Amino acid sequence: MRRKLAAGNWKMNGTRAAFAEAKALIAAHPAPRCQILLCPPATLIAAMAEIAEGSPLLVGGQDCHADAAGAHTGDISAAMLAEAGAGFVILGHSERRADHAERDEDVRRKADAALAAGLVAIVCVGETEAERDAGSELDVVGRQLAGSVPDGATGADVVIAYEPVWAIGTGRTPTAEQIAAMHRFLRETLVARFGEDGHAFRLLYGGSVKPGNARSIFAIPDVDGALVGGASLKAEDFKPIVAALEDCADRE
Ligand code: PGA
Repeated sequence: MRRKLAAGNWKMNGTRAAFAEAKALIAAHPAPRCQILLCPPATLIAAMAEIAEGSPLLVGGQDCHADAAGAHTGDISAAMLAEAGAGFVILGHSERRADHAERDEDVRRKADAALAAGLVAIVCVGETEAERDAGSELDVVGRQLAGSVPDGATGADVVIAYEPVWAIGTGRTPTAEQIAAMHRFLRETLVARFGEDGHAFRLLYGGSVKPGNARSIFAIPDVDGALVGGASLKAEDFKPIVAALEDCADRE
């Protein structure tokens, strides 16, 4: 049985003023039937973890360095995130892959570091529009999955987020059939590599998840939740997404 996960990625948005949104989220979901996670900018993690203490809200980072410590100006280690109160870290987001030239191998090393620090790693994969137009989305995502997920991963400490690059921040989403086909492929690939435990990995969909489409996305087989960008910034938008996921968890 895979626990549903509603994950919010605030990206480079939010100052302390945004804690009001986290508090509103906690107030609206005091005993959620799914996990709720916010990944704010690193500067807010420690204070958000304090706000979340004693509540079901989970807190995560958006990236970490692969090394435990050292001369890496501006970077943050997985252990530092954990000490600040993070329980999760998003890795290999397409914006990191594009802006910081992160390769699958870099993502895998970061994931190893995250697991060593006791964090759950949310490993992101997803094709560009050109790759989908060329019909190579399964090849691309298969390669990313093989290269980015470490051998030591288990369903308990790694979550996979399928985020087609062309759906992120665009208001466009794949069809239900396209999401279902990719999630089925991810599941089969994980089972082929990890055996029975491949069934334990949670598969999130990400890319323009909104209150208006969450319910239909969560009804797709093998979608265990969402990684939400823009619609996670405001509690008014994220609450109905969480509620849609809770309804889905109820039906199982
Ligand atoms: P979006 O972002 O929901 O704003 O499309 C999703 C993501 O990048 O994780």
